[in-house]
Amino acid sequence: MKTYRVTVPATSANIGCGFDSFGVALSLSNTVIFHEDSSLDIELETQDDRIPLDESNMIYSSALYTAEKFSRSLPPVHLFQQDHIPFSSGMGSSAACIVAGILIADTLLDLGLSDEQKLEIATELEGHPDNVSPAIFGGFCITINSDSGLRVTRIPVKDDLKLVICHPHQTISTDEARKVLPSSYDRNVVVSNIARGALLIHSLHSGDYSVLRDSLADRIHQPFRKKLITDYEIIERSSYEAGALGVCISGAGPSVLIFSDEEHLQAILSALGKADSAIGFDVYTLSVDNHGATVSEMP
Ligand code: HSE
Repeated sequence: MKTYRVTVPATSANIGCGFDSFGVALSLSNTVIFHEDSSLDIELETQDDRIPLDESNMIYSSALYTAEKFSRSLPPVHLFQQDHIPFSSGMGSSAACIVAGILIADTLLDLGLSDEQKLEIATELEGHPDNVSPAIFGGFCITINSDSGLRVTRIPVKDDLKLVICHPHQTISTDEARKVLPSSYDRNVVVSNIARGALLIHSLHSGDYSVLRDSLADRIHQPFRKKLITDYEIIERSSYEAGALGVCISGAGPSVLIFSDEEHLQAILSALGKADSAIGFDVYTLSVDNHGATVSEMP
């Protein structure tokens, strides 16, 4: 019996003005060890009552969805879930489960899915491509919906850019965070976001971080979501006072993504450590994951 390991990175989506389009893979991941079994058996490395152990488990249901899409039947599986990405945190935990499930079905049924097919299926399940894209491809991804389907372009991010994620001790579901958004926007809001989204890509590409802060001043989602994040103001202020290059909501929140150079990183971490938080938050110092999801057979 063959046993496999699938690893899928955490992701931060939107990145300021790239609502539902930009996302970056992070150096923190979930792992699932799996093999065929006589019945469905889901084991967790860390007990968590929020994770179902039956067919409604998100990894398993994504594998099942993938199998059914190709009119195949998924064999019973044993899954050992090692979760490190916090739930409903804005760090792509559901995207990681969905991508893991697709890769499990692909491996067990020998479907031979291309990365583009994995992206199409993952986006059907997630509803938007900005987390699942970097989870599959790694790096900083721009995803567009073209006439011929979803298309991903990866932007190189220089090693000198440090990423810090602050995860406040609260949960916000993506559904909840999407409901607070307007259904239409004024032209000047759209123009502002287009210009700043382009500026962010220039900044990351060229390493000219002097424009990074301005480039993150989104008006499509952040003004409506900041109010949901108890500690947003204190995290943003502490980070900028300590020399951060840019601060934005990670995905739909509540996590906050902070960009830093090497020189100011320790000062930012120290400022966050001393910040007068209302509810407390965890701080992760991360880098860009350039590999995306991987599957390997275990010895
Ligand atoms: N683009 C999505 C949103 C990411 O902001 O709602 C959350 O998963």
